[in-house]
Amino acid sequence: MRTIKKIGLLTSGGDAPGMNAAIRAIVLAAHHYDIEIIGFKHGYNGLINQEFFNITPSQVHGIINLGGTILKSARCKDFYQENGVKQAANTLIKYNIDALIVIGGDGSFNGLLQLQKHWNGQVIGIPGTIDNDIDETDHTIGFATAVNTAIEAIDKIRDTADAFERVFIVELMGRKSGHITFNVGVACAAEQVLSFENFSTENKNEKLAELALDIKQAQSHCHSSYIIVIAENLWEGGAHQLAIDLKQQTQTDCTACILGYIQRGGSPVAEDRILATKMGVNSIQAIIEGKSNMMIGEQNGEIISTPLEHVINHKKQVNQNLISVQNSILANSAQTMIDEI
Ligand code: F6P
Repeated sequence: MRTIKKIGLLTSGGDAPGMNAAIRAIVLAAHHYDIEIIGFKHGYNGLINQEFFNITPSQVHGIINLGGTILKSARCKDFYQENGVKQAANTLIKYNIDALIVIGGDGSFNGLLQLQKHWNGQVIGIPGTIDNDIDETDHTIGFATAVNTAIEAIDKIRDTADAFERVFIVELMGRKSGHITFNVGVACAAEQVLSFENFSTENKNEKLAELALDIKQAQSHCHSSYIIVIAENLWEGGAHQLAIDLKQQTQTDCTACILGYIQRGGSPVAEDRILATKMGVNSIQAIIEGKSNMMIGEQNGEIISTPLEHVINHKKQVNQNLISVQNSILANSAQTMIDEI
């Protein structure tokens, strides 16, 4: 096993609350084992453009509570080209980097596999994305904060929706998966949750008719607010178009609200800080143990490592129990209130 002296670190893709907590843990653990951490800025661009600095323990003081990432992040187009990957590998060789840790999502992990074609250092991935769509970890860093942020926002929307007995359609992030949408929808008692896991565009017209009927019944019998949470990239034209489509069918004002990037920012909640800290320390220990091509995850409270290749090829599904509880019981909440009358 070779002696590890220098580890490169970067954050890549959509930033997520808790990335700074992971950076701090990595730097402190590395210092403990007498290893230097070289932070590359702006994701993989920092490797290509040789934009880096030595991160010392004093530089990570007071960052555990900060959203975003002190290393900055980016989606690096040049990394899709062989030449970009080679340039990045040359930087790692030139500066004698023994291993590289990347905090990001599956696209960023794929970048690590590409790098391995031109550089033989060790590579470790840490799952950092609000989307929670990474397999072999119960949660990704940032997911818990994003869910909490969205819940806080929708609770506020509920107040004004109740006051006006109004219909709101709230669009949530998640790229192509419904982890945020389902968890937030259930936690906010949204009347409807619409996501990739329970809706297919082939049934668009039936779904519209079904929603319109439920809204009309709920409004005429219960005089209450009605909130639909919808995953981004699901409905053609997004929440705004769904609001127009529903208004046509119900003759009721439907207001669209896109929560957007607010979900990516803010101070990380306890769960993200602790998860990020555990993963950060473990990533250093994994490198010292000689591990490579692995993602650090957490399952049932235990830190585990899984080959990156597996993680890239398997997308984590939304908890089936949550989906069926929402679909079979909670989605009928308006009808349940009517039955009570
Ligand atoms: O992956 C995190 C995420 O915020 C997704 O939820 C969203 O679809 C995407 O990033 C937005 O990407 P960008 O920051 O490039 O607009």
